[in-house]
Amino acid sequence: MNPLKHVAIIMDGNGRWGLKYKRSRNAGHKAGLNTVEKIIKETIKHKINFLTLFAFSTENWKRPKKEVNFLFNLLENFLINRIEDLHKQNIKLKIIGSKKFSTKLNKLLNKSEKKTSKNTNLQINLALNYGSKFELINAFKIMKKNKTYINEKNLSKNLQTKNIPDPDLLIRTGNTKRLSNFLLWQLAYSEIFFEKKLWPAFNEKDYNRIIKEYKNIKRNFGKI
Ligand code: FPP
Repeated sequence: MNPLKHVAIIMDGNGRWGLKYKRSRNAGHKAGLNTVEKIIKETIKHKINFLTLFAFSTENWKRPKKEVNFLFNLLENFLINRIEDLHKQNIKLKIIGSKKFSTKLNKLLNKSEKKTSKNTNLQINLALNYGSKFELINAFKIMKKNKTYINEKNLSKNLQTKNIPDPDLLIRTGNTKRLSNFLLWQLAYSEIFFEKKLWPAFNEKDYNRIIKEYKNIKRNFGKI
């Protein structure tokens, strides 16, 4: 059975789900947040150490302002209402991506990270304004500036995911088969599951089925 330390998820399909069932994309984002809560609980049950969630990409700024604002309000309220409970559950929150948000949200993100920084049960990496190509270019720039020898180990150390093991498993919901500029370096040997269900419809049963299937895969890492 394969060990499972790190699950990464591209939570796709909120907009389509919202339009189909509630006639609004934003209702889909709200429902998507309920799925986030369910999956966090299930991840703890499985004793998985890292959960990385793609919540907002560098490309998502191209969406209508109303939708972008709704997403950040949702995030703000989530942090205000839930950080205490996450902290009590010994969960550490880490943001990956560039924190170029409102002063209020930046402060809230920093406060939430600081408060939970010593927690050890589960680390949630929330990818916000995250783009993998930017992250890689930035890492190379740092290495060039510091005259660091370029190899795999040093590159990994200069990514925002330093000290985080690469994902064992990537799940993308929403019936789309692409990586969308997410963790391109870190996913080199991950097992990838593309799910037809839209994110708000994804549930514990689906998650458990994927985990079970993942555990039985023969992972070769290039060997035979
Ligand atoms: C992709 O679906 C989803 C997002 C861009 C946002 C993800 C946000 C959440 C799950 C809720 C907020 C989470 C936190 C932690 C506060 P899409 O809108 O691209 O769906 P579509 O492909 O159907 O348009």
